[in-house]
Amino acid sequence: MLDLQKLINTYGISGDEGEISDLIASLTKDYATEVYKDILGNLVVHKKGNGKKLMFAAHMDEIGIMVTYIDDNGFIRFGMVGGVDKYNCLYQRVKFKNGTVGVVGYEEKISDIKNIKVSNLYIDIGAKNREEAEKMVSVGDTAVFLGECIVQNNRVISHALDNRIGVYVLIEAIKRIKNNKNDLYFVFTVQEEVGLRGAKTSAFSIEPDYAIAVDVTDTGDTPECNVMAVSLGNGAAIKIKDSSVLCNREVVDALKECANKNKIKYQLEVLEAGGTDAGAIHLTKGGIKTGAVSIPVRYIHTPCETADLCDVENAISLIEKIEF
Ligand code: CO
Ligand code: ZN
Repeated sequence: MLDLQKLINTYGISGDEGEISDLIASLTKDYATEVYKDILGNLVVHKKGNGKKLMFAAHMDEIGIMVTYIDDNGFIRFGMVGGVDKYNCLYQRVKFKNGTVGVVGYEEKISDIKNIKVSNLYIDIGAKNREEAEKMVSVGDTAVFLGECIVQNNRVISHALDNRIGVYVLIEAIKRIKNNKNDLYFVFTVQEEVGLRGAKTSAFSIEPDYAIAVDVTDTGDTPECNVMAVSLGNGAAIKIKDSSVLCNREVVDALKECANKNKIKYQLEVLEAGGTDAGAIHLTKGGIKTGAVSIPVRYIHTPCETADLCDVENAISLIEKIEF
């Protein structure tokens, strides 16, 4: 758990994954044949094997905001980095890379909150004017949403579980896998939240025979929510489809078979909205046989993402045991 908390508390918004990538490299280097970064910043942890090439991908970037303008009174206007919901960010705290904390407020002239636009929101960093604000942040600076990481009742509540929990799953699998048959590439991808960008270039250069993305997925187990056959605590989710990919049948069947053989608890995932790195990977070169293992998470893209640690353990086992 300590590693998960460290992963969550390390800065890494889309496009600025240097710190999180260094941390992952330090946690995995003793278990790898080689560790390297590519041009876009993807971190590749290679565990050499003599069989087919299998690539795992977990994105290490997190959603957040970017400063677009600072006004005369020191209030900050901003744009979103990735899929941040404008309602969800009201009165949340954001933390910039340099540690500066701000609060998101909105123009009170907006009488109907339903009509709010991102341009009606601002960040208050406690500066009295532009000059003071500019000593703390600059245009182009980024910040992530704050949400303390809490473990309660074997469930974890935090910001950035999307996708530091997937990163954690891959790191734990890297530590546990010994004498692998497949030639394994664990890729910690960049810029997933802004369009699966790192997955695209890393899959192109690795050119694996098979690929499995590891990310979070939605659940259908909260009051009056949209129906979905995924619940917290019911096991690792083997993806059948989301809006970016129809998973390769051979990969889906191999994951199911592996779970059954090793008595790993799993559920099947059909996600109607949202995509993952699998979406970019399967369309690389002449096409790559791709699937995905997901960790069920409630309240995705809020500072209160919630996951069950049993599901996390099941996902680690599945990644550890899968072979082609
Ligand atoms: Co996301
Ligand atoms: Zn994600």
